[in-house]
Amino acid sequence: MLPESFIQELKFRNDIEDVVSSYVNLKRGGKTLAGLCPFHSEKSPSFHVYPNTQSFYCFGCGAGGDVITFVRRMENLEYMEALRFLAQRSGLDMPDEVESDGSARLKTRILEINREAARIFHQNLSSPAGREGLNYLRSRGLSDQTIRRFGLGYSLSGSGLYKLLSAKGYTDDELIAAAVAAKSNRGTGCFDIFQGRVMFPILDLRGNVIAFGGRLTAAAGQQGWDKRKYLNTSDTPVFKKSRNLFALNFAKNSGEKGKGLILAEGYMDVIALHQAGFDNAVATLGTALTPEQSRQIAHYTKLVRLCYDSDGPGQAATARAIDLLSKAGVQVKVIQIPNAKDPDEYIKKFGPQRFKLLLEGSVNSIEYTISAIRQKYDLESDDGKMNCLNELAAMLTAIPNEISRDVYISRIAADFDTSKEALASQVNYLRKRKRRESEKKAMLDPFAVNPSGGGQKSINTMQRQNNIKYARAEDGILAALVLNPDYFKWVSRKIRPEDFVTDCGRSIAQAVYGRLEQNLSADISFLGESLDPEAISLLVRLQNDFSEQSIPREDVETYISTLLQRRTEKSQKELSEMSMEEYAQYLANITKGKAGKPLP
Ligand code: CTP
Ligand code: MN
Repeated sequence: MLPESFIQELKFRNDIEDVVSSYVNLKRGGKTLAGLCPFHSEKSPSFHVYPNTQSFYCFGCGAGGDVITFVRRMENLEYMEALRFLAQRSGLDMPDEVESDGSARLKTRILEINREAARIFHQNLSSPAGREGLNYLRSRGLSDQTIRRFGLGYSLSGSGLYKLLSAKGYTDDELIAAAVAAKSNRGTGCFDIFQGRVMFPILDLRGNVIAFGGRLTAAAGQQGWDKRKYLNTSDTPVFKKSRNLFALNFAKNSGEKGKGLILAEGYMDVIALHQAGFDNAVATLGTALTPEQSRQIAHYTKLVRLCYDSDGPGQAATARAIDLLSKAGVQVKVIQIPNAKDPDEYIKKFGPQRFKLLLEGSVNSIEYTISAIRQKYDLESDDGKMNCLNELAAMLTAIPNEISRDVYISRIAADFDTSKEALASQVNYLRKRKRRESEKKAMLDPFAVNPSGGGQKSINTMQRQNNIKYARAEDGILAALVLNPDYFKWVSRKIRPEDFVTDCGRSIAQAVYGRLEQNLSADISFLGESLDPEAISLLVRLQNDFSEQSIPREDVETYISTLLQRRTEKSQKELSEMSMEEYAQYLANITKGKAGKPLP
């Protein structure tokens, strides 16, 4: 569990108005701000931000919460991921990254080891033993300036690095944890992980060396202990490859806003691009793009140009990246590279000017996908044509904007020499079917945010409507507890969370009681971890509905007796289902002055 002081600091530094404004155009009206809800589609604003309670609520779809809930929904994050996101946004360190003394110390040591190793690799380039590396990098067209800028280097064969670092006082355990050395099989000391490779240091945004990529050079390839072309640092306490991008430290503030990022496949591509003046290029680290990386990218730019290899795997990776980046809210364009296998080779063959033309001519992701689908079919045959049209129709359903959908429908119909009406009606049919399917899913998943807003009701909403009297009473009690925690003592003696009628109310009561019983604050910021977003929304609405008035004790008493009355109603119903013997026993207990059988 994270300390409360951290969450308070985090919320203090991430004002809800600021955070929401970067996604929603807000207009001030009195004490609140309003805009179009980002969680459902609407034409007039029903989404409200309340700066004084640091919360939001949408009267259209019922989404609500604090700044943490907001980024969770907006960026589709888990609770901890949302905290990390906000921490990064406001320049705070996550406490789990400060952690216990032991692991914090190890991380510091690993970063020192990496920095030392990078320095040694780089120095090797100017030694006779490392000549191979320098020749290789130069043969790939890199200038000395580029080599220095990226801190490139060379790893020698043997265990030289291990010996140098040991002599500097780093223990075997530390060197192994940094993944620069490994225990040798014979049990006699360690050997270097990277041997005979040109080395690409990977830096985080603060300039720490967190890992390496290493490419085998030709001569080393003959004798190397590991013959894979590329070898990357495995995950270590300071490095997770699914979470980092190569050269983001250079690219993040390069160039004017609106230029976007270029995403390439390999280290060499990125370096060649930077050397040619495209200093907004980044790459993943020997893996396909991950959802985490997509969200990180979305944090820096709203436009990515994909520039993957022109081969099959490169094109498959392009389709995946389009999907992930679009989900993260990034506009995607695709650069297709003619007559070369990758951007590195293209720039070498045709020069930066020609590459700039490719960049400018990059097609949007829809055009790219259309041509990729067309290439899969034999369009000379009727069958091929029909299957291709069907796949295109399915793809067109995913275009949210009606106008652009219409444009592509017209264009494809014309290309295929078929009627626009027929294609449009097929697309509409598929869209309806898809909507029905997702509505069915939403029915089964009560916590899903309702994407269309209003139309479909969640199970919790239905429960509240069927128990409106009790739901109101629950609302009152919960609001009172959150706004006047000093009521808790007597309230909790009269009514327990189990007595709450709706599932949502019960789960909020459990969470609120749990905190108040330990004398902890029941502010929504601390409930986010244990409550689902729908419960948080309800709580926020209550907080804002009631915040202007204080809730008198008598009112709370009334709410409580309403709920308890339901308990009696329920037990009366159960009484009527008792057998005669049970009923007699029950009465006997009561007349003896005992509490009787505990009420069900
Ligand atoms: N890669 C990897 N392991 C491999 C092959 C590739 O991690 N065995 C990763 C590396 O990050 C590499 C990227 O995938 O940079 C692209 O691979 P590839 O196209 O094979 O490399 P190129 O950049 O074309 O390499 P080079 O030009 O050096 O041959
Ligand atoms: Mn390549």
